[in-house]
Amino acid sequence: MSSRTWIALTAIGATFAVGPAACSQGGDAPGPTSASASSASSSASSTAGTGGTASSASASTGTSASASGTGGTGGSCKNLLPNETLEPAMLSNTGLYTDTAKKALAPYVKEFTPAFPLWSDGAEKHRWVYLPECGNVDTSAMDDWQLPVGTRIWKEFSLGGKRLETRMIHRYGPGAKDYLFTAYQWDAAESDAALQLNGVVNAGGTDHDIPDVDQCKHCHGPYPAKGGMPSRYLGFSALQLSHAGPGVTLSSLIADGKLSKPPAGDFTPPGTAVEKAALGYLHANCGNCHNDTNDGILVPAFNARLSVSDADVTKTGAYATMVNQKTTLFLGFGCNYRIAGQSVADSCAHLRMSQRGTDAMPNTKQMPPFASEVVDMTGLMALDAWIATLPAPM
Ligand code: HEC
Ligand code: HEC
Repeated sequence: MSSRTWIALTAIGATFAVGPAACSQGGDAPGPTSASASSASSSASSTAGTGGTASSASASTGTSASASGTGGTGGSCKNLLPNETLEPAMLSNTGLYTDTAKKALAPYVKEFTPAFPLWSDGAEKHRWVYLPECGNVDTSAMDDWQLPVGTRIWKEFSLGGKRLETRMIHRYGPGAKDYLFTAYQWDAAESDAALQLNGVVNAGGTDHDIPDVDQCKHCHGPYPAKGGMPSRYLGFSALQLSHAGPGVTLSSLIADGKLSKPPAGDFTPPGTAVEKAALGYLHANCGNCHNDTNDGILVPAFNARLSVSDADVTKTGAYATMVNQKTTLFLGFGCNYRIAGQSVADSCAHLRMSQRGTDAMPNTKQMPPFASEVVDMTGLMALDAWIATLPAPM
């Protein structure tokens, strides 16, 4: 059993998990707002859990409209999905589905796909977003959007057509740490999924591991735990949504008037197809930890993230801080550079991407350091193809 204590609280016919404030989310507890918000969450979740329609959910909204802040559509605006500050015990209470067993999506959630996905050992992934009706995405930092309070994004993992896990990141408040990170494990019949905050090894008898919620923060943040970007959301960004669909894209958000400062159009990484593929791969798979924000890992100081303003391959973070740059920490393993032009063997990025451990035997050489036990051959080939085009170190 878990080291955290969860009390099942039954309220108006629905069950909610209530974490003691001190343990909730590793110290990022919502604090004094939780009592009032928990009543909001009760009505929200019971509505979602009983298959309520969008309009009945809207009727129960109390706190969320005012909480949404950024550029709403007026004082009378009400969000369809109420805000809450506690992790619902079941996926069916999070608002993703109106009927979880039937996989009937709520009318206010929309699917999206990032241009450059994170490798998840071949798992099939689906992602859905709920953007509050009353808030806009603050795009004043185009590389690091602030999504409106009340935003929820889910990501589902399946293997061999079987759903194993659905994750959620919910922004419940305006603060830098006001995010819930949750993971739900599907039952064998795929009728619903239950909250798992301490991770599950080999979920459903597969090799898929559900990460501990503290691991989420190594990639999604927040500071001072390090890792991630201040936006917390990694695949719902200007660069990642710059593609021709399907689902929510940068252009659909512009058309729907959801961006505070809409850009003129899509952004693309600079360079040839080979350069774009490698830069995009490093951005999505490494740049969540290796970046130059306060929330990124500062040591070793390299930045694998792309910026929407990158127009020249040699000026990208990955080129400037990795290509022909000697490693500072990873020493004595036969490679000398983070990326060495013309030499896969001298490129520690290649070596570390080729290394994997298992649950029983973790491998400290592997990159990313966790959440993968299978080498991404396509990603490795994208890196190697780029290395072949780069000048050798002087
Ligand atoms: C190894 C790094 C890593 C870990 C660990 C990780 N994530 Fe992510 N996650 C990412 C990246 C990168 C993306 C965007 C690319 C994608 O979706 O393929 C993402 C996407 C998501 C999304 C879709 C919204 C978004 O940010 O684009 C959700 C929801 C999510 N993760 C939740 C979680 C939760 C909850 C945990 C912990 C249980 C977790 N993640 C653990 C790296 C990670
Ligand atoms: C979850 C966070 C995380 C992710 C994601 C991640 N790294 Fe790292 N990386 C670290 C940490 C922490 C260190 C320092 C400790 C170590 O070397 O193991 C590091 C160190 C390194 C180093 C050594 C740098 C030096 O100068 O010594 C290389 C090379 C590297 N990472 C490559 C990658 C690549 C390539 C990816 C993507 C495929 C990646 N990392 C993804 C956390 C991460």
